[in-house]
Amino acid sequence: MMMDRFSLDGQVGVVTGGGQGLGRTFCHAFAEAGADVVIAELNPTTGPQVAEEIEAQGRQALFIETDVRQMESVEAMVAQALAHFGRIDFLMNNAGIVQHLEAEEVTPEEWRDVLDVNLNGVFFCSQAVGRHMIQERRGRIINIASMSGLIVNRPQCQASYNTSKAAVIHLTKSLAAEWAQHNVRVNAIAPGYMKTAMAEPFFDDHEYGGVWIDGIPMGRPGNPEELGPVAIFLASEASSYMTGATVVVDGGYTLW
Ligand SMILES: NC(=O)c1ccc[n+]([C@@H]2O[C@H](COP(=O)([O-])OP(=O)(O)OC[C@H]3O[C@@H](n4cnc5c(N)ncnc54)[C@H](O)[C@@H]3O)[C@@H](O)[C@H]2O)c1
Repeated sequence: MMMDRFSLDGQVGVVTGGGQGLGRTFCHAFAEAGADVVIAELNPTTGPQVAEEIEAQGRQALFIETDVRQMESVEAMVAQALAHFGRIDFLMNNAGIVQHLEAEEVTPEEWRDVLDVNLNGVFFCSQAVGRHMIQERRGRIINIASMSGLIVNRPQCQASYNTSKAAVIHLTKSLAAEWAQHNVRVNAIAPGYMKTAMAEPFFDDHEYGGVWIDGIPMGRPGNPEELGPVAIFLASEASSYMTGATVVVDGGYTLW
Protein backbone atom coordinates (compact mmCIF):
# COMPACT_ATOMS: atom_id res chain seq x y z
CA MET A 1 0.00 0.00 0.00
CA MET A 2 1.35 3.42 -0.93
CA MET A 3 0.60 5.13 2.39
CA ASP A 4 2.38 2.36 4.33
CA ARG A 5 5.60 3.55 2.74
CA PHE A 6 5.46 6.73 4.86
CA SER A 7 5.36 4.73 8.11
CA LEU A 8 8.30 4.89 10.53
CA ASP A 9 6.83 2.22 12.80
CA GLY A 10 9.45 0.44 14.91
CA GLN A 11 12.27 2.70 13.71
CA VAL A 12 14.68 4.91 15.64
CA GLY A 13 15.75 8.37 14.51
CA VAL A 14 18.33 10.83 15.83
CA VAL A 15 17.51 14.54 15.60
CA THR A 16 20.31 17.01 16.34
CA GLY A 17 19.22 20.32 17.86
CA GLY A 18 15.86 18.73 18.65
CA GLY A 19 15.22 20.90 21.70
CA GLN A 20 13.36 23.73 19.99
CA GLY A 21 12.25 25.25 16.71
CA LEU A 22 12.32 23.08 13.60
CA GLY A 23 14.14 20.27 15.44
CA ARG A 24 11.37 19.97 18.02
CA THR A 25 8.79 19.86 15.23
CA PHE A 26 10.77 17.12 13.43
CA CYS A 27 10.87 15.06 16.66
CA HIS A 28 7.08 15.30 16.92
CA ALA A 29 6.59 14.48 13.25
CA PHE A 30 8.79 11.37 13.42
CA ALA A 31 7.06 10.19 16.61
CA GLU A 32 3.67 10.69 14.98
CA ALA A 33 4.85 8.53 12.07
CA GLY A 34 5.75 5.76 14.54
CA ALA A 35 9.43 6.30 15.36
CA ASP A 36 11.25 6.48 18.68
CA VAL A 37 13.48 9.52 18.86
CA VAL A 38 16.93 10.43 20.16
CA ILE A 39 17.20 14.15 20.87
CA ALA A 40 20.89 15.06 20.43
CA GLU A 41 20.84 18.58 21.79
CA LEU A 42 23.31 21.00 23.37
CA ASN A 43 20.72 22.64 25.62
CA PRO A 44 20.19 20.56 28.81
CA THR A 45 16.87 22.29 29.56
CA THR A 46 14.98 22.11 26.27
CA GLY A 47 16.15 18.62 25.22
CA PRO A 48 14.55 16.77 28.17
CA GLN A 49 11.34 18.80 27.75
CA VAL A 50 10.94 17.61 24.17
CA ALA A 51 11.73 14.05 25.30
CA GLU A 52 8.86 14.31 27.81
CA GLU A 53 6.52 15.59 25.09
CA ILE A 54 7.38 12.64 22.85
CA GLU A 55 6.85 10.15 25.68
CA ALA A 56 3.43 11.75 26.29
CA GLN A 57 2.74 11.07 22.60
CA GLY A 58 3.25 7.35 23.32
CA ARG A 59 6.69 6.90 21.76
CA GLN A 60 10.06 6.40 23.43
CA ALA A 61 12.44 9.34 23.55
CA LEU A 62 15.98 9.73 24.82
CA PHE A 63 17.69 13.08 25.41
CA ILE A 64 21.47 12.93 25.02
CA GLU A 65 23.38 16.13 25.74
CA THR A 66 25.47 16.53 22.58
CA ASP A 67 27.70 19.15 21.03
CA VAL A 68 27.79 18.41 17.30
CA ARG A 69 31.02 20.45 17.01
CA GLN A 70 32.93 17.86 19.03
CA MET A 71 33.58 14.44 17.47
CA GLU A 72 34.02 12.85 20.94
CA SER A 73 30.61 14.15 22.00
CA VAL A 74 29.03 12.87 18.77
CA GLU A 75 30.63 9.42 19.09
CA ALA A 76 29.48 9.16 22.73
CA MET A 77 25.94 10.11 21.63
CA VAL A 78 25.87 7.41 18.94
CA ALA A 79 27.20 4.80 21.40
CA GLN A 80 24.57 5.74 24.00
CA ALA A 81 21.76 5.74 21.43
CA LEU A 82 22.78 2.28 20.17
CA ALA A 83 23.16 0.93 23.71
CA HIS A 84 19.65 2.15 24.53
CA PHE A 85 17.72 1.36 21.34
CA GLY A 86 20.00 -1.12 19.56
CA ARG A 87 19.53 0.63 16.21
CA ILE A 88 19.53 3.95 14.38
CA ASP A 89 17.47 3.96 11.18
CA PHE A 90 17.68 7.62 10.29
CA LEU A 91 19.57 10.78 11.23
CA MET A 92 18.26 14.32 10.92
CA ASN A 93 21.12 16.85 10.96
CA ASN A 94 19.17 19.90 12.09
CA ALA A 95 21.34 21.79 14.63
CA GLY A 96 22.40 25.15 13.25
CA ILE A 97 23.22 28.74 14.14
CA VAL A 98 23.21 32.05 12.25
CA GLN A 99 25.10 35.33 12.59
CA HIS A 100 24.22 38.57 10.86
CA LEU A 101 27.61 40.25 10.38
CA GLU A 102 29.24 42.18 7.55
CA ALA A 103 32.00 40.15 5.92
CA GLU A 104 34.63 42.82 6.50
CA GLU A 105 33.85 42.82 10.24
CA VAL A 106 33.56 39.10 11.03
CA THR A 107 36.36 37.72 13.25
CA PRO A 108 38.04 34.34 12.62
CA GLU A 109 36.31 32.98 15.78
CA GLU A 110 32.87 34.11 14.60
CA TRP A 111 33.46 32.61 11.15
CA ARG A 112 34.60 29.30 12.66
CA ASP A 113 31.64 29.18 15.09
CA VAL A 114 29.12 29.04 12.25
CA LEU A 115 31.10 26.60 10.10
CA ASP A 116 31.75 24.42 13.15
CA VAL A 117 28.07 23.87 13.93
CA ASN A 118 26.49 24.09 10.49
CA LEU A 119 29.04 22.18 8.41
CA ASN A 120 31.49 20.29 10.63
CA GLY A 121 28.65 19.17 12.93
CA VAL A 122 26.74 17.75 9.96
CA PHE A 123 29.80 15.85 8.78
CA PHE A 124 30.76 14.51 12.22
CA CYS A 125 27.23 13.22 12.91
CA SER A 126 26.89 11.77 9.40
CA GLN A 127 30.22 9.98 9.72
CA ALA A 128 29.54 8.55 13.19
CA VAL A 129 25.99 7.41 12.39
CA GLY A 130 26.93 6.53 8.79
CA ARG A 131 29.47 3.95 10.00
CA HIS A 132 26.65 2.14 11.84
CA MET A 133 24.34 2.41 8.83
CA ILE A 134 27.00 1.06 6.45
CA GLN A 135 27.46 -1.91 8.77
CA GLU A 136 23.68 -2.50 8.78
CA ARG A 137 23.51 -1.89 5.01
CA ARG A 138 20.54 0.44 5.55
CA GLY A 139 19.96 4.04 6.61
CA ARG A 140 18.74 7.49 5.74
CA ILE A 141 20.28 10.87 6.50
CA ILE A 142 18.40 14.14 6.16
CA ASN A 143 20.38 17.37 6.32
CA ILE A 144 18.73 20.69 7.06
CA ALA A 145 20.35 23.07 4.61
CA SER A 146 18.60 26.34 3.74
CA MET A 147 17.55 28.38 0.74
CA SER A 148 20.61 30.42 1.86
CA GLY A 149 22.70 27.63 0.34
CA LEU A 150 21.18 28.46 -3.06
CA ILE A 151 20.79 32.26 -2.99
CA VAL A 152 22.20 35.19 -1.02
CA ASN A 153 19.65 36.61 1.43
CA ARG A 154 18.99 40.32 1.74
CA PRO A 155 19.20 42.81 3.35
CA GLN A 156 21.12 41.08 6.18
CA CYS A 157 24.76 40.09 5.74
CA GLN A 158 25.43 36.44 6.62
CA ALA A 159 28.29 35.17 4.47
CA SER A 160 29.29 32.46 6.96
CA TYR A 161 25.75 31.04 7.14
CA ASN A 162 25.21 31.12 3.37
CA THR A 163 28.56 29.44 2.78
CA SER A 164 27.89 26.76 5.39
CA LYS A 165 24.51 25.89 3.88
CA ALA A 166 25.87 25.75 0.31
CA ALA A 167 28.48 23.34 1.66
CA VAL A 168 25.79 21.22 3.32
CA ILE A 169 24.04 20.85 -0.04
CA HIS A 170 27.25 19.63 -1.70
CA LEU A 171 28.14 17.42 1.27
CA THR A 172 24.70 15.85 0.85
CA LYS A 173 25.51 15.01 -2.78
CA SER A 174 29.00 13.75 -1.92
CA LEU A 175 27.83 11.40 0.84
CA ALA A 176 24.88 10.25 -1.29
CA ALA A 177 27.26 9.25 -4.10
CA GLU A 178 29.68 7.47 -1.76
CA TRP A 179 27.10 5.63 0.33
CA ALA A 180 24.48 4.62 -2.27
CA GLN A 181 26.38 1.30 -2.62
CA HIS A 182 25.75 0.71 1.10
CA ASN A 183 22.00 1.39 0.82
CA VAL A 184 22.38 4.62 2.79
CA ARG A 185 20.41 7.50 1.26
CA VAL A 186 21.33 11.12 1.98
CA ASN A 187 19.02 14.02 1.14
CA ALA A 188 18.55 17.61 2.27
CA ILE A 189 15.74 20.06 2.91
CA ALA A 190 16.30 23.73 2.06
CA PRO A 191 13.72 25.73 4.02
CA GLY A 192 12.94 29.37 3.39
CA TYR A 193 12.07 31.73 6.24
CA MET A 194 10.33 29.72 8.96
CA LYS A 195 8.70 31.01 12.14
CA THR A 196 11.17 29.87 14.81
CA ALA A 197 13.35 31.67 17.36
CA MET A 198 15.96 32.03 14.61
CA ALA A 199 13.80 34.12 12.26
CA GLU A 200 10.49 35.09 13.87
CA PRO A 201 11.73 38.13 15.87
CA PHE A 202 12.89 39.73 12.65
CA PHE A 203 9.46 39.37 11.08
CA ASP A 204 7.71 40.92 14.07
CA ASP A 205 9.60 44.13 14.69
CA HIS A 206 12.67 44.48 12.56
CA GLU A 207 13.54 46.33 9.38
CA TYR A 208 14.25 42.98 7.71
CA GLY A 209 10.69 41.66 7.96
CA GLY A 210 9.15 43.75 5.18
CA VAL A 211 11.98 43.00 2.75
CA TRP A 212 11.73 39.30 3.52
CA ILE A 213 7.96 39.15 2.99
CA ASP A 214 8.25 41.11 -0.28
CA GLY A 215 10.65 38.42 -1.52
CA ILE A 216 8.28 35.51 -0.86
CA PRO A 217 5.79 34.85 -3.69
CA MET A 218 3.42 33.19 -1.17
CA GLY A 219 3.60 36.37 0.93
CA ARG A 220 4.25 34.75 4.32
CA PRO A 221 6.88 32.86 6.31
CA GLY A 222 6.51 29.12 6.76
CA ASN A 223 5.28 27.38 9.90
CA PRO A 224 7.58 24.64 11.26
CA GLU A 225 4.71 22.12 10.90
CA GLU A 226 4.88 22.61 7.12
CA LEU A 227 8.28 20.86 7.07
CA GLY A 228 7.20 17.80 9.10
CA PRO A 229 5.63 15.85 6.21
CA VAL A 230 8.68 16.48 4.01
CA ALA A 231 10.94 15.13 6.76
CA ILE A 232 8.79 11.99 7.14
CA PHE A 233 8.91 11.52 3.36
CA LEU A 234 12.72 11.65 3.28
CA ALA A 235 13.11 9.47 6.40
CA SER A 236 10.79 6.76 5.10
CA GLU A 237 10.51 4.26 2.25
CA ALA A 238 8.25 6.80 0.49
CA SER A 239 11.45 8.34 -0.92
CA SER A 240 13.17 5.01 -1.68
CA TYR A 241 14.61 6.12 -5.06
CA MET A 242 15.82 9.55 -3.90
CA THR A 243 19.37 10.31 -2.89
CA GLY A 244 21.54 13.43 -3.11
CA ALA A 245 18.48 15.64 -3.59
CA THR A 246 17.72 18.96 -1.94
CA VAL A 247 14.01 19.61 -1.46
CA VAL A 248 13.32 23.36 -1.45
CA VAL A 249 10.43 24.43 0.82
CA ASP A 250 10.47 28.23 0.71
CA GLY A 251 7.07 29.58 -0.32
CA GLY A 252 8.69 30.34 -3.68
CA TYR A 253 11.46 32.64 -2.39
CA THR A 254 14.14 31.22 -4.70
CA LEU A 255 11.94 31.78 -7.78
CA TRP A 256 12.60 35.53 -7.86
N1 LIG B 1 14.20 29.25 10.97
C1 LIG B 1 14.47 29.45 9.68
O1 LIG B 1 13.96 30.38 9.06
C2 LIG B 1 15.39 28.50 8.98
C3 LIG B 1 15.45 28.57 7.58
C4 LIG B 1 16.28 27.71 6.88
C5 LIG B 1 17.05 26.79 7.56
N2 LIG B 1 16.99 26.75 8.92
C6 LIG B 1 17.84 25.76 9.59
O2 LIG B 1 17.04 24.90 10.37
C7 LIG B 1 17.79 24.41 11.48
C8 LIG B 1 17.01 24.67 12.76
O3 LIG B 1 16.80 26.07 12.87
P1 LIG B 1 15.77 26.72 13.93
O4 LIG B 1 15.17 27.88 13.25
O5 LIG B 1 14.91 25.67 14.51
O6 LIG B 1 16.84 27.27 14.99
P2 LIG B 1 16.77 27.35 16.58
O7 LIG B 1 17.83 28.35 16.95
O8 LIG B 1 15.36 27.62 17.03
O9 LIG B 1 17.18 25.88 17.07
C9 LIG B 1 18.48 25.36 16.86
C10 LIG B 1 18.73 24.23 17.84
O10 LIG B 1 20.05 23.72 17.62
C11 LIG B 1 20.69 23.56 18.88
N3 LIG B 1 22.15 23.66 18.73
C12 LIG B 1 22.89 24.77 18.44
N4 LIG B 1 24.19 24.48 18.44
C13 LIG B 1 24.30 23.14 18.73
C14 LIG B 1 25.40 22.25 18.88
N5 LIG B 1 26.66 22.70 18.76
N6 LIG B 1 25.14 20.95 19.16
C15 LIG B 1 23.87 20.51 19.30
N7 LIG B 1 22.79 21.31 19.20
C16 LIG B 1 23.01 22.62 18.90
C17 LIG B 1 20.14 24.70 19.74
O11 LIG B 1 20.34 24.47 21.12
C18 LIG B 1 18.67 24.69 19.31
O12 LIG B 1 17.91 23.77 20.07
C19 LIG B 1 19.14 25.11 11.42
O13 LIG B 1 20.09 24.29 10.77
C20 LIG B 1 18.84 26.33 10.57
O14 LIG B 1 20.00 26.83 9.93
C21 LIG B 1 16.18 27.57 9.65
